[in-house]
Amino acid sequence: MATKDELKNLKIPKHVAIIMDGNGRWATGKGKSRQYGHKTGSKTLETICDDAYSLGIQYMTVYAFSTENWIRPAKEVHYLMHLLRHYLKDSIKKSKKDNIRIRVIGNVQGLDNDIIEKIQTLESSSSTNTGLNLQIALNYGGRNEIIRSIKKIYHDIENNQLHIEDVNEELFNHYLDTQDIPDPDLLIRTSGEWRISNFLLWQLAYTEFYFIDKHWPDFTHTDLIQAIKYYNSKHRRYGGLVNEA
Ligand code: IPE
Ligand code: IPE
Ligand code: MG
Repeated sequence: MATKDELKNLKIPKHVAIIMDGNGRWATGKGKSRQYGHKTGSKTLETICDDAYSLGIQYMTVYAFSTENWIRPAKEVHYLMHLLRHYLKDSIKKSKKDNIRIRVIGNVQGLDNDIIEKIQTLESSSSTNTGLNLQIALNYGGRNEIIRSIKKIYHDIENNQLHIEDVNEELFNHYLDTQDIPDPDLLIRTSGEWRISNFLLWQLAYTEFYFIDKHWPDFTHTDLIQAIKYYNSKHRRYGGLVNEA
């Protein structure tokens, strides 16, 4: 556990992105079903949202279902969608009390209609909340997001709402799902894999990466603080030189 003084001296990242990996391995390692792992993982997310906000993190973006996850066995995909329906329904009820603003990033149109409706209800009912800004990546892929953004830009150019000369990095940011959200300062991936699996390819350009062997359902407040400590040990240079002053 970090002491109050230790916490006081930590620079808290404004935006933390998390690849919540390892639900399946966590469960099978305990002789349980992968479904049980996903269910437990969704509870971990709720706890970590509370912890993040109490530490002063303003934005959190979590990878919940990738554009590639559809290739899993139908039974698993079906269960994940079932869990998602529950999570969205529950969040609609609780979001006022929790004061969390929830936005979904990803190819939402590729989800079932009732899920799309729940997402819209949740996004609008939580839009004036002033606590944690939580982005949930659903049917999300970084490459897919970039292609969708290019198509939107092309559409606006065709309709004379935009000129090709005006396309630059800042404008491109506005066409991404993450729009007005600052880029992540810190990325955490659980479960021992050192890869980004198509997550936030554009936005992670200068993010610090923290990998931990633990599986997501076991991730705790203390692990989050460890990740923040690691972030504090880094000097972000953005292509510049080490400041030796
Ligand atoms: C992460 O856990 C959740 C999703 C990808 C939906 P996994 O389901 O990938 O768990 P492992 O990596 O197979 O253990
Ligand atoms: C990344 O995990 C996606 C989510 C956590 C939702 P995966 O388990 O799908 O990634 P790979 O297949 O190990 O790269
Ligand atoms: Mg995995």
